[in-house]
Amino acid sequence: MHLAFDLIVELDRALLSAAAAAGVEAGTFQPGVRTSDPRHGDFQANGVLGAAKRAGRPPRPLAEALVAHLPESVRRDFDVAVAGPGFINFTARPSLLLAWLQVYRTEGDLAAGASAAHAGETWVVDYSSPNAAKQMHVGHLRSAVIGEAIARLLAFTGAHVVRDNHIGDWGTQYGKLIWAYRRHLDAEALARDPIEEFERLYKVGNAAAEADPAVLEEARAELVKLQAGDPDNLAVWRHINEVSLEAFQRIYDRLGIKFDVTLGESFYNDKLEPVYSELARFGVSTESQGAQVVFHPEHPRFKTQPFIVRKSDGAANYATTDLATVLYRVEHFHARCVLYVVDKRQGDHFEQLFLTAAKWFEKRGQAVPRLVHVDFGTVLGEDGKPLKTRTGDSIKLRGLLDEAAERAFALVSQKSPDFPEDERRRIAEIVGVGSVQYADLSQHRSSDYLFSWDKMISLDGNTAAYLLYALARIRSIFRRQGLECGDPSAESGADAFQTPGEVAVARKLIKFADALRLSSETLCPHFLCLYLYELAGEFSTFYNADKVIGAEPAARARRLVLCARTLLVLETGLHLLGLRTLERM
Ligand code: ARG
Repeated sequence: MHLAFDLIVELDRALLSAAAAAGVEAGTFQPGVRTSDPRHGDFQANGVLGAAKRAGRPPRPLAEALVAHLPESVRRDFDVAVAGPGFINFTARPSLLLAWLQVYRTEGDLAAGASAAHAGETWVVDYSSPNAAKQMHVGHLRSAVIGEAIARLLAFTGAHVVRDNHIGDWGTQYGKLIWAYRRHLDAEALARDPIEEFERLYKVGNAAAEADPAVLEEARAELVKLQAGDPDNLAVWRHINEVSLEAFQRIYDRLGIKFDVTLGESFYNDKLEPVYSELARFGVSTESQGAQVVFHPEHPRFKTQPFIVRKSDGAANYATTDLATVLYRVEHFHARCVLYVVDKRQGDHFEQLFLTAAKWFEKRGQAVPRLVHVDFGTVLGEDGKPLKTRTGDSIKLRGLLDEAAERAFALVSQKSPDFPEDERRRIAEIVGVGSVQYADLSQHRSSDYLFSWDKMISLDGNTAAYLLYALARIRSIFRRQGLECGDPSAESGADAFQTPGEVAVARKLIKFADALRLSSETLCPHFLCLYLYELAGEFSTFYNADKVIGAEPAARARRLVLCARTLLVLETGLHLLGLRTLERM
């Protein structure tokens, strides 16, 4: 039996053909079907209002005409009603709910249903992208967590995703760093905490250069040698970057992140010349005080605020590299869309980059891909200021994740004191890291958020621990009955849902498709988080009201369908957000 995964897409289509059959002029009607307030049904179409207005017709009779022309199958599956000035409300019938849950029974089924959305498209996701030789800060963590969730959502909805870690591995800081590395490297400290040692070396080099002009000259000379490809300096530079990447990788491993490519800024060094020369030749850039810059006269600020693509000393910068990167991603990956998951404080840079790329590509006679700055707000400490340690340094991510696991261990030990300690530790790592991830994901990404251990690692509210616990609890329902979850024999003989609790869970489950679409279209994972949280809440209400074990056979079977599918959707959803899940908690 064919049954659409995303019922909204199906209803949109049905309404469009009903409109054609009812004589509505093509192109004047957008169905606008959305998930509705559950009191009015499951889905609501509000597009009649606009169409009627454009046609100068009263909306209600138009809505009624559309309903009369809906295909038989829609009337069989939904209770359809016209409401208010001309809304059309659709309430899924219990038979449809059961049929949908019987078709979409595995993660593979869900993926197959969801994959139509972005099939055949290549998306490059640029995320995490920390700077070598420097501590990754909470902003890079946020980028990593949000970027990974978005990459997974896009892949699940059918896109070919290229995960690219655009490491900052080139720049003037290497002069002082190499100078200090040669003279002051502490091998033991390097082995203990390489990034900390590199940060120390940079400070040493910087202080020495400030105190003594001769050192400044020497550091400059090291930089010039590096840029000219001197093998010794290249070797030091390579070592610094490799060791930095290894340190970053340990964080990525804890977060379950695997990049497809790590093309840092240095990768583009030999691809910068065409950027300058083409921009100048096409008249996109102009010269200003010896630098090559791009103005955007059509923009209120960027008509006077320049986008510097080549500094007056002839050197490239962040902007040049990013322009070369756009071209590479188009020519090499055939990207149709490129996402930059970066702190919103870099908003101006990306706005100028996108405007410049559009003009450059137009002159090249090439289509520019869709470029999106997937921005996010700052992580704030309890004092409302950007999160820092007491001494004002940036927080080390390893320590942050360790503390999360430690705090989660206390929670798990309190909840399940009888579990063996090593199991509690394993659970705590998943709950702790998951809590940090989930806190980054569950709020609108563009707003700043307050970092609070107590809110984040808690069984109450929209948290990772709450969802992981809800999921583990469903697993235990199956375990206690000696059943595999999703076992078809346990579900056979299920009849249509009856109790308010059953119906509410089933209605929520069929909207997983909508939550996925909304999250991937807006590139906002918090929509999926909220959906999972609400699903877990509906499930808990149902489970407290309706017994599963000991119910008569047909009721037991249909309730086991709800248990199994809630588990499936919670698990799929949490995996898409980048979290790991648990057997028990
Ligand atoms: N390395 C930069 C930073 O730490 C972020 C790079 C983001 N990606 C990009 N293509 N500009 O601020």
